[in-house]
Amino acid sequence: MTKVLLATDGSAHSVRAAQALRALAGKDPSVHVTVFHVVPLPDIPNPAAAGAYLPAAPAPDTYAEVQASRALTVTVAALGLPPDRVRQYHVIGVPGEAILAEARQGKYDLIVVGRRGLSPLRELFLGSVSQAVLHGASCPVLIVP
Ligand SMILES: Nc1ncnc2c1ncn2[C@@H]1O[C@H](COP(=O)(O)OP(=O)(O)OP(=O)(O)O)[C@@H](O)[C@H]1O
Ligand SMILES: [Mg+2]
Repeated sequence: MTKVLLATDGSAHSVRAAQALRALAGKDPSVHVTVFHVVPLPDIPNPAAAGAYLPAAPAPDTYAEVQASRALTVTVAALGLPPDRVRQYHVIGVPGEAILAEARQGKYDLIVVGRRGLSPLRELFLGSVSQAVLHGASCPVLIVP
């Protein structure tokens, strides 16, 4: 069995990464893919103050669940592999670190990420998550443009 970790933030880049993986490995029945999303830890300097002017916002965990499920759903659809070869789940944490931890613990053979993600910034060639993964991985990494 070849274990592939496909990390997704639900962006068009992640969807292209899923399509590339499908084209490369979709026909190989030994390839099993985990589609993995990290709900980023909240980056709010003062959560109490934020709560004061966002009274109608959904509870953070509810919001996170919606984001995670949307990211996973679009990516699994783009991957288009039979359900017995795909599993999906999300965790909460720092995306780069959580992807690397999952890759180590699950003894994956390959990590697949997009070159960029959801961020609108365009100056950097690689996003910070793909860069962290490339930097810290001990297995091959496929970065899809
Ligand atoms: N929260 C996440 N969970 C899982 N995978 C992620 C997450 N964020 C990014 N990735 C993966 O990393 C790839 C690159 O995204 P990254 O976040 O590095 O770029 P960016 O959003 O353009 O820039 P940055 O976030 O550094 O401002 C994505 O296509 C996806 O494969
Ligand atoms: Mg990002």
